[in-house]
Amino acid sequence: MKKYFPVYVRVPVLFALFFLALEYGIDSGEQPAFMEYPVVLVLLFLFLFALIAVEIVASATDKVMTRLMTEEERLEKERLDNLPFTESEFYKRVMKKLTRSKGIEEEGTLLLDHDYDGIKELDNELPPWWVYLFYATIIFAVVYMARFHIFEGDNQAAEFEKEMIAAELAIEEYKKTAPDLLTADQVVFLDDPADLAEGKRLFDVNCVVCHRADGGGGIGPNLTDEHWILGGGIKNVFNTVMEGGRDGKGMVAWKVSIKPSDIAKISSYVLTLQGTNPPDAKEAEGEIWVDTEEAVPAENGAVETATDSVPAAASTVE
Ligand code: HEC
Repeated sequence: MKKYFPVYVRVPVLFALFFLALEYGIDSGEQPAFMEYPVVLVLLFLFLFALIAVEIVASATDKVMTRLMTEEERLEKERLDNLPFTESEFYKRVMKKLTRSKGIEEEGTLLLDHDYDGIKELDNELPPWWVYLFYATIIFAVVYMARFHIFEGDNQAAEFEKEMIAAELAIEEYKKTAPDLLTADQVVFLDDPADLAEGKRLFDVNCVVCHRADGGGGIGPNLTDEHWILGGGIKNVFNTVMEGGRDGKGMVAWKVSIKPSDIAKISSYVLTLQGTNPPDAKEAEGEIWVDTEEAVPAENGAVETATDSVPAAASTVE
């Protein structure tokens, strides 16, 4: 056997098997088990150590044995070691177990009386590998029948339906908490200083080229006054940053490059710039924004998804 699995194959393969068995058997979440639990790492080391120790002892005994053998014994051992795999004792034993076949010398005793036009038949025993497979199918059939026809187990179609329902529930559950599926009608103003600081950081990276660091406006409109072209309030601002401005104006849809949860932070930060009156800010553009739930959607419909708060006509404001 040793010849077919030399030590540099044996040791790594056994080690890998042990490793995989541990990985498979221990529920360690995302992390591999050996990182999660130090004791697993210790076990792995011990196992590797044991493997190497066994190899060293085995090869030492082998050497001693060979030295103690007579010349004849040594030749015999060499002959056995060099037999091709299919003639080795191990292979023969396994085949015998699996097939229980009789050697060609014994065929005379197996011959049936019948002679079909010169074709004769042997009364061989059924090969055990086949018989056990057959028993396995019988057990399978019994279990199958009990499960699906007596206890009315789910068939594949019902299983599919159930899984789909469970998956839909899971998606709903996920959407409730996943910030990255945020939409304009769920978004709220974030007043947590950490969120606003992150919002400012992202604003400084992405937005200042057009809106200026203080929000006073440049290529893009002034974000510090109460006038809004596309609607004020967190929902409209979020929507504008997500979807971009009017065609050809230069404000792109940032949802392609920034996560919605981050856009909520930027939008909140933008709203904190209200009323800061930076020096030489851009002329106000758009209408004065009044946050009112009752506001009727503006006819020009600049903002479609955030209909619960829309720009009010400047005239309605004192
Ligand atoms: C390439 C220049 C440019 C960049 C970069 C830019 N914007 Fe704009 N932004 C504009 C322009 C132009 C408009 C006006 C759009 C319109 O009139 O439809 C605008 C409009 C807006 C509005 C609506 C203002 C209003 O009065 O309704 C908001 C809010 C806004 N931008 C926020 C941002 C944020 C936040 C970023 C960074 C993520 C950003 N912008 C990056 C050019 C830019």
